[in-house]
Amino acid sequence: MCGIVGYIGPREAYPIIIEGLKRLEYRGYDSAGIALFDGTDLKVCKTKGKVVDLENKLHTDITSTGNIGIGHTRWATHGVPNDVNSHPHYSNSGDLVIIHNGIIENYESLRKELISRGYHFDSDTDTEVLVNLIEDVKNKENVKLGQAVQIALNQVVGAYAIAVFDKTRPKEIVIARLGSPLAIGVGKDEFFIASDASPFLEYTKDAIYLEDEEMAIIRLNKDIKVRKIKDDSSVVPYVQTLKMNLDQIEKGGFEHFMLKEIYEQPKAIIDTYRGRLNRQEAIIKMGSVEDNMKKFLNADRIIIVACGTSWHAGLVAEYIFEDLARIPVEVEYASEFRYRNPIITEKDVVIAISQSGETADTLAAIKLAKSKGAFVFGVCNVVGSSIARETDAGAYTHAGPEIGVASTKAFTTQITVLSLIALRLARAKGTISSSDFRHHLLELEMIPKKVEKVLEANEHIKHIAEIYKDVHNFLYLGRGYNFPVALEGALKLKEISYIHAEGYPAAEMKHGPIALIDENMPIVVIATKKGHYEKVVSNIQEIKSRKGKIIGIVTEGDVDVRELADHVIEVPETLESLSPLLTTIPLQLLSYHIAVLLGKNVDQPRNLAKSVTVE
Ligand code: G6P
Repeated sequence: MCGIVGYIGPREAYPIIIEGLKRLEYRGYDSAGIALFDGTDLKVCKTKGKVVDLENKLHTDITSTGNIGIGHTRWATHGVPNDVNSHPHYSNSGDLVIIHNGIIENYESLRKELISRGYHFDSDTDTEVLVNLIEDVKNKENVKLGQAVQIALNQVVGAYAIAVFDKTRPKEIVIARLGSPLAIGVGKDEFFIASDASPFLEYTKDAIYLEDEEMAIIRLNKDIKVRKIKDDSSVVPYVQTLKMNLDQIEKGGFEHFMLKEIYEQPKAIIDTYRGRLNRQEAIIKMGSVEDNMKKFLNADRIIIVACGTSWHAGLVAEYIFEDLARIPVEVEYASEFRYRNPIITEKDVVIAISQSGETADTLAAIKLAKSKGAFVFGVCNVVGSSIARETDAGAYTHAGPEIGVASTKAFTTQITVLSLIALRLARAKGTISSSDFRHHLLELEMIPKKVEKVLEANEHIKHIAEIYKDVHNFLYLGRGYNFPVALEGALKLKEISYIHAEGYPAAEMKHGPIALIDENMPIVVIATKKGHYEKVVSNIQEIKSRKGKIIGIVTEGDVDVRELADHVIEVPETLESLSPLLTTIPLQLLSYHIAVLLGKNVDQPRNLAKSVTVE
């Protein structure tokens, strides 16, 4: 995710773009840049860091005049965050500049082709490839910018929101979208461009939201022309009057970042497997796994190190790797691992999981493993983070920035990446049949739609939250793949509502926690059809006979648990190994609603931090 801002009109573009970028920093904040046209010259300034760093640099680098410009705040996907990889990117001639939010999946082949025709690239980004492709088309076909953008985008596979400026036609900006948002603010003789309406709300409430596969040519003092990218047909733009305030827009209309991020999960999971999972060809393509295949296949065991929610994702991965790829796995709290004297050899593969990529204990565990000669693979969300740089190789989750302190979409996207790795290794080892492999790919591809289905239970879950918000203790139970989900559910509740909660393997209940059960104790039991269902139903009977209140997470159409439980929340059926991606969602919503009802600060709970850089 990145933030895009643009302006064309009678005002000074610079302050509008800078303030707009600050409002869009929630979308990414590892680098920022701006391109301004002052009537004669096109000036670009960009830097690693936040928008305020860009502001500081601008004061010394260029004069900030001009009535037309585009700006970008980046959340890196291709290429580490540094000055060169920051947007805007110039084309080779220096005539065009582009800003881009999204991923161009076929950028490698396009890049090779452009290099063979004499183009050169300064950055590692897919975006620089796109701007040069547009330039190439423009020159070859002898067309104007709008047409060149259109022809180029028809050669592109991936997702994008882009804004392009051509200094040889300095009175227009061309924008396009597929899969990433883009809004146009319509003022009097002026237009604003932005990833959401927050940068232009104080100037105009009239907005056009581009639809997927649409592009627009925005000209000074002229009408906007909107057309389809694919077939060139024109579209009559629908101008709507916005009623939202600033805060609502930054959170996408949600009350809190956490809720927004819970709802972003279907898209985040797609972004995670996009370009990696190819069901038609029945392959999983992950460069960093292919490059290190021997290390994975020759590993005596995999050791997973992580903290917090990432550790829970690691526990799910333990089941997946052992079950599918038949590789022994140990999962370690990074903080414990680093301070004992662990036996690590050169034949171990260590996987470090971290959303932020900055967790001090995980970083220290990585250094320790490397010093013993192990191959260390990172699974991170934040591109260019310390853990991403310190590991020998890795795979990003591509979940987009996670702002809420309680991790949600990071967890499900970590499980998605780890499932892809396990499946790829299973295929390479021959521990999964080709039909099972295909079945897994199909089911994984269907998960986002099924997550959407679970999200439809939001009001029902809120109602359950109202009933139990005042209790002091919760118990979460699950077995097999869903034992780590029970731990994660309990952690979510503790983190944001400050209610004591414990996660337990369902069968272990009788070795202790059963003593806590009385008529005041709510127990969340994950009891989906696949995976020890009958055994979990027996556990539920044991709770029932002690008068505990049962909230069952069940498979759609379940009858047995429904008869016993006080409440059930249904999730669609899927493979057992993928079920955590669905069963986690109601637990996130339950803790969210309880915390909101209790008036807690959901996005910034007391005593916690999003990125724990101290041990
Ligand atoms: C903190 C956060 C948790 C997170 C944990 C690990 O405790 O509050 O949400 O799970 O750190 O963070 P990481 O960035 O390494 O995944």
